[in-house]
Amino acid sequence: MGRTADVRVEHLTKRYGDVVAMADVSLTIPSGEFVAVVGASGCGKSTLLRILAGFERATEGVVEVGGVPVTGPGPDRGVVFQDYGLFPWLSVRENVAYGPARKKLPKAQVREVADRFIAAVGLTRFADRYPGQLSGGMQQRVAIARVLANDPSLLLMDEPFGALDALTRGDLQTELRRIHIETRTTVVFVTHSIEESVYLADRVVVMTGGASHGVPGHISRVVTVDLADRDVTSPAFNAVKREIAELVHTVPAAV
Ligand SMILES: Nc1ncnc2c1ncn2[C@@H]1O[C@H](COP(=O)(O)OP(=O)(O)O)[C@@H](O)[C@H]1O
Ligand SMILES: [Mg+2]
Repeated sequence: MGRTADVRVEHLTKRYGDVVAMADVSLTIPSGEFVAVVGASGCGKSTLLRILAGFERATEGVVEVGGVPVTGPGPDRGVVFQDYGLFPWLSVRENVAYGPARKKLPKAQVREVADRFIAAVGLTRFADRYPGQLSGGMQQRVAIARVLANDPSLLLMDEPFGALDALTRGDLQTELRRIHIETRTTVVFVTHSIEESVYLADRVVVMTGGASHGVPGHISRVVTVDLADRDVTSPAFNAVKREIAELVHTVPAAV
């Protein structure tokens, strides 16, 4: 545990045919930082994440993780989506062990790694269960444990808690925050929830635009969350939320 990478995105543009989905996006993330990306639907959040994951190529621009240009997916980058993407025919332990097992580590070590991350997400009692026997929140915990077991230097999350009820979502936010403080893995976390972004992130990247606005998606502002604690009921927390909400709801002028 403990690998962590910086991220460098410079003048990134992504076109789909004639459609410019995203234009001139530049963002530098020091290693260990937790960055949230918020913005209205279609502004390019998922596109940015998929390009960092290596699932898609940038049309133009520089994309580097840990100083290495991204040319495709790699085990250094762990990706968590809204749907858990678990193997239903494997137990919790087997799902989490999947990556370490592929590294051909000794069996005992694979199990030790799997059990450590299963414990980290509070699922020790459920290690022998199958995904179909677990709630959505528990399945997403497994998905997070599975990604962490690969020891990624960058964690990419696209609305990972979007399908969960509010209470479960709150629990997972608390847990993710704790895991990040412990591991210091760099995180890029896409969310629709401004509150979630302020609770979790060191900085919040606000994106606007998108095809439906007639302006390519782009970064409108990066807000540093300068809060000592993350008490969601505090006036300081709400002031940051309000600032970001205003930015999100400012519709860019069409060109
Ligand atoms: N495979 C694709 N082909 C064509 N257009 C796409 C494709 N993927 C995304 N887009 C367009 O790119 C823009 C950004 O999409 P996306 O990154 O999914 O936005 P977000 O995640 O912020 O909702 C949208 O206008 C969307 O229609
Ligand atoms: Mg999206």
